[in-house]
Amino acid sequence: MSNNNIPTLVLSDNHHMPAIGMGTFLFQSPGEITKTAVIEAIKVGYRHFDTASLYGTEQPLGEAIEEALKLGLIGSRDELFITSKLWFTDAQPDRVVSALQKSLGLLKLEYLDLYLIHMPISSKPESNSYFPTEDNIAELDIKGVWEAMEECKRLGLTKSIGVSNFPVRTLQSLLSVASIPPCLNQVEMNPTCQQKELREYCKEKDILIAAFSPLGAVGTRRGDNRILGNEILVEIAKSHGKTVAQVALRWLHEQGVGFIAKSYNKERMKQNLEIFDWSLTQNDLEKISQIKQIRLHQDHPLFEYIA
Ligand code: A2P
Repeated sequence: MSNNNIPTLVLSDNHHMPAIGMGTFLFQSPGEITKTAVIEAIKVGYRHFDTASLYGTEQPLGEAIEEALKLGLIGSRDELFITSKLWFTDAQPDRVVSALQKSLGLLKLEYLDLYLIHMPISSKPESNSYFPTEDNIAELDIKGVWEAMEECKRLGLTKSIGVSNFPVRTLQSLLSVASIPPCLNQVEMNPTCQQKELREYCKEKDILIAAFSPLGAVGTRRGDNRILGNEILVEIAKSHGKTVAQVALRWLHEQGVGFIAKSYNKERMKQNLEIFDWSLTQNDLEKISQIKQIRLHQDHPLFEYIA
C-alpha cells in the first residue's frame, strides 16, 4: 500500500507500481489540457502516469510534474511512477536509447520508472508514415530491440522494462532471447476483453499485466458504451451502490492486474480511486466471466499482430 491508500503491485524486478495509473492518451489535444488534468490528478492522489511518444503528452506531463514539485504537491519526483513507450518507428536496435532520451527530454526527467515497447512490430525503414498501415509494418527485430531496452535499464534511463500489446507467441520469442525478462505487458483488458489465455501465460512467466481501455474507451472515437452500458455490469453496480465504471475497475483489481484509467474530469478521477475498500461477490465474478467478449480495433491492419 502506498502512502495515499492506493495499493501497489510488485514487478518481477522488485520495483513497486501503484495499481491504478492515469492515462494521458488524448490525441492531438492542446498540452494545457493534459497539464491541468495531471495536476488535478496529483491533488486527488494519483501517483502513476502513463504516456507514450505516440500520444504527444510527454511534454505537458513533464510540465505538470515540474509544477507539482513547485507547488509542493509532491516532495520529490521519486514519489511518482512514470511510464512511457517506444513507438514502432523507433523500434530498431540503434534507435531505442536515443528515443528514450528524447522522451526523457520532453518529460524533463532523469529516468522513467517503466519503458515499454509499444507494439510488437517495427516500421519499414523507407516508410515515412508515423502510423502503422498495411504497407509499412515490418517484423520486429526482437533480439536487437530488446538488447537495446536492456541497455536503457543498465544506463539507469529507466528502472524497469516491458512491452505492450504483445500476444503469447511474441512473448515466447522475447523470453527465448532476453537476459532481463520483461516485467509487464500493457494490453487491452476489461470485462468485454478478459484476456484469459494471455493472463495465464503471463502469470506463469511472472509478467504483470496492466490493462488499457479498462472502460472500453467510452466517449472516444476508438471506443463505445460496451462497458458502461453492459446490462450485467449495470445490475452489479446497482446492487453495490457503485457506478459501472467502479465495478469494471474493481473487477480488474481483483484479477491482480494494474490498470490505466484515463479521466480528465475531477469527479470521475476521484470516483475511479474509490474502488479499494469494497469487493465483488463470487456471484458477481461468475456473471462477469460470462460476458460476451469483443475487442477494440478488430478491423485495423495491426490486429493480427497484437494481443
Ligand atoms: P473523461 O476524461 O471525460 O472522464 P478508457 O480508460 O477505457 O480508455 O476510457 C476513457 C474514457 O472513459 C474517457 O473518455 C473518460 O472520459 C471516460 N471515463 C473515465 N472514467 C469514467 C467514469 N468513472 N465514468 C464515466 N466515464 C469515465
